[in-house]
Amino acid sequence: MTEISDILFKKLESEFILNRDQLAPIVNGFLNEFQIGLKTPSKGLATMIPSFVTQLPTGNETGTFMSLDLGGTNLRITAVQLLGDGHVKVLEVKHSPTKELKTGPGELFFDWIADAVEELITVKARHLFQPDQVSGKETLALGVCWSFPVDQTEVNRGTILRMGKGFTLQNTEGRDLATMFHEAFERKGLNVKVSAILNDTVGTLVAHAYTNPRSRIGLIFATGVNAAYPEKVENIIKLDQQVRDKYPAGTEMLLNTEIDIFGNEDYLPLTSYDITMDKSHNQPKFQLYEKMMSGAYLGELTRLIAMDFIKNDALFKGQIPEGFDEPWSFPTMYMSALERDVTSTRQVSLEKILGKYHFEQQPSLEDIAILTRICRIVSTRSALLCSCAIAALIEQQGLVTKSNADIIVGMNGSTYEFYPFMEERLHRALRQWFGVEISDRIRLEITSDGGSVGGALIAMLCC
Ligand code: BGC
Repeated sequence: MTEISDILFKKLESEFILNRDQLAPIVNGFLNEFQIGLKTPSKGLATMIPSFVTQLPTGNETGTFMSLDLGGTNLRITAVQLLGDGHVKVLEVKHSPTKELKTGPGELFFDWIADAVEELITVKARHLFQPDQVSGKETLALGVCWSFPVDQTEVNRGTILRMGKGFTLQNTEGRDLATMFHEAFERKGLNVKVSAILNDTVGTLVAHAYTNPRSRIGLIFATGVNAAYPEKVENIIKLDQQVRDKYPAGTEMLLNTEIDIFGNEDYLPLTSYDITMDKSHNQPKFQLYEKMMSGAYLGELTRLIAMDFIKNDALFKGQIPEGFDEPWSFPTMYMSALERDVTSTRQVSLEKILGKYHFEQQPSLEDIAILTRICRIVSTRSALLCSCAIAALIEQQGLVTKSNADIIVGMNGSTYEFYPFMEERLHRALRQWFGVEISDRIRLEITSDGGSVGGALIAMLCC
């Protein structure tokens, strides 16, 4: 390692490897925003969004239900068979929207979804539905897991708010989500009715409760980040008093925090790289916390840092590989591959991973080691920041002091599940915050198919 890269790494680590004192303002900032969000009506950039789900499954429910799960990358339409005893079987149709669909007219996008619903009912899972349901004589219920902010007004109604993850659908913001689905189903001659709308975090929490009814947090750590938890209805001041009065005292309702939107320059330790990346994004200043730590952004942050190293002659002999200066050209997937790599296979992955860039001079193993170290620093900060969300949600619910029971977190998402060492890093970060004794009680448990299973469960619980 040269002297210059040593200096650059020291600076980078001092900005990215946050200690407990540096995490405190973030956790406190989140706790403060919880309180504000509980009071502020859900309009525009809403947080702390009520789901109107006040019941968690017991694990004994059975039957076949249909759900739809839309995230940043995939659309999944699923027939979920609840088998009881916490077991499920899923059969799905999966498609990815093109950039044109994600940025084009809303109607076209919903028509595309309706086609996928039809494919599930009439082809893929035909045998799981009744003949009258397949022919359209009988209405089929659909649980919709929407991984974007929605201002929910009822369990099956909600206004579409500003979407992230590359979606800029025309004529959708401000419209009722269920109505947009129903119009498309009608255009396509489908007899399907949206019986529940839920955020993917709510879906994850509900799905996890099917296997572990003591779950208290549903957390998505994927392309985006977000979390849900049960809050006492009496604390959700933003709900009208008459609505709150309808629920028996002590009832808890699942809240979609939209923690991805939390944070501002005052308490997030934004670096020059975060600021540069945010400025180059098509929605600047939106989801600042998410941009510092979720899968959609880690690769670009790494690329920006690497560019700095190159400019300082500390990487690739000071030569920018052709294409490497292209913003967003270095996906988070490359970071995973580099970090997963072991020395003996370095040369192979080097060709595979960096093959898309043109190098005047092939990068050395030292270059790869430097790039990998940058990846490690960026992803370690991501784990540290994720721990702040978990810590704030635990504190908000008083879970540490209420009892000595384990604290169950249903976790879902590619960044958590597939990024190498993320799980260990997150545990280490929680240990740094809570100390060994308490952090040992925190169980981060993977929820498979959170969106689809949660969607089906809520569709069932609400029918
Ligand atoms: C969205 C949330 C979603 C999260 C995880 C964020 O970008 O705004 O609604 O829950 O990603 O998918």
